[in-house]
Amino acid sequence: MENKRENFGSRLAVIFAMAGSAIGLGNIWRFPFMVGEHGGAAFILIYILATLLVSLPVFICEVTIGRRSRQTAYNAMPTLKPGLRLGRVAGFLSVLVPVVLASYYSVIGGWSLEYFFQAASGRIVRQSPAEVTTVFETFISSPWMPLTTHLLFLGICAFIVARGVKSGIEKFSKVSIPVLFFLIVGMLVYSVTLPGSAEGVRYMVHPDFSQINARSLAYALGQSFYSLSLGAGAIVTYGSYVKKSENIIVSSAATAVSDLLFAILAGLAVMPAVFAAGIEPGAGPGLVFQTIPFIFSSLGANLPIISTVCAIAFFLAITVAAITSEISLLEVAVSYLHDKFGLSRVWSSVLVFVFCGLVGALCSLSFGPLAAFKLSGMGLLDLFDWLCSNVLMLLLSLISVIFVGFFLGKENLRDELSNGGTLPLGRGLFNILYFAIKWVAPIAIALIFITNFIL
Ligand code: TRP
Repeated sequence: MENKRENFGSRLAVIFAMAGSAIGLGNIWRFPFMVGEHGGAAFILIYILATLLVSLPVFICEVTIGRRSRQTAYNAMPTLKPGLRLGRVAGFLSVLVPVVLASYYSVIGGWSLEYFFQAASGRIVRQSPAEVTTVFETFISSPWMPLTTHLLFLGICAFIVARGVKSGIEKFSKVSIPVLFFLIVGMLVYSVTLPGSAEGVRYMVHPDFSQINARSLAYALGQSFYSLSLGAGAIVTYGSYVKKSENIIVSSAATAVSDLLFAILAGLAVMPAVFAAGIEPGAGPGLVFQTIPFIFSSLGANLPIISTVCAIAFFLAITVAAITSEISLLEVAVSYLHDKFGLSRVWSSVLVFVFCGLVGALCSLSFGPLAAFKLSGMGLLDLFDWLCSNVLMLLLSLISVIFVGFFLGKENLRDELSNGGTLPLGRGLFNILYFAIKWVAPIAIALIFITNFIL
């Protein structure tokens, strides 16, 4: 086993790195439109429960697998239990999921880039609030613009990965994530003052459980995994960099809670404005890209300069958050090609760029020229998104909890979570956690997985 592995410097550094992977388009782009499509406040409650009861135990399992094996996800389970076929399946999924995810993530990254350009040129603030939806629809249905921004976004990320200059961007994200946080809080305060927003506030705080069915449960769990970067090999890989003296439970819980907070704040900032703008809450992937410009354009009517500065900062911050997520996704495939086939990092990056570029291009065109092509009612981007978060991520997470619960075993888990007995780990807490890992999480994931296919 290699023990020379670099370590994260301190507890805060661990939490920052993991929260950096978790906080991204998942919170700001995906969460609000999931809430809008699956029943508002009731969906949020289920999402919170899913995060605490299922995702947090899965998160702890992934960090444990990573730190105990000190390997990237592809090799982690095979190192801990050589010869176990399940471990090899998990290794394969930990390369496949990030590549598929990176392909369409880059399309949405491209949209953020486009809106950053629009903010910088002053267009977002100059347009009237009524024009916002048409501007978005024209952009998204034209074949070339979204395709160009997708390839530009992917190209920037592939370049960063090829050159191994990630640390520069990551330093930048330490500034942009807090900036994003304050901007979201500011937007939240402003959006509840918009005329017509009261209905949106109601929608976010009054749960209507008649909207909830087995499908919404599956989407809530899928969103929670997506948002915490679970089931994609990412947290296992981060886990392998966590110091042996670090407290896994505390770092995991802190990451889960900050990610949850970010998503809920983003939802609360967006939804009142959705109603104020008269946009359909179930509008799908375009929801945020219509609503946020509406907020800035309304604010711009009275305070054009402040609004322009905030719009630029906002779209720059989410573009940076998206870049850091995209590079960690591409890194998986690039290091796999490099390690397994001895390709240079540059050639590996080129290959990954071409593959993700093509798959992403199809997703991008699914809003324009390929809009008529649908499989069970879903366009290509929605289909890939569903495949990742409602099928593959659930599957890989299921394997991780079964691996820890049944193959790694209780004593090894206790040893890893208590750092070899040096950390106080209450018996009660440990037993509850172990029960959640061994029984609650696998049964919940399996049930949701199955009903997802039946319904
Ligand atoms: N959690 C990220 C977000 O919210 C998306 C994501 C899912 C991700 N899995 C990942 C990012 C793996 C990096 C690595 O945007």
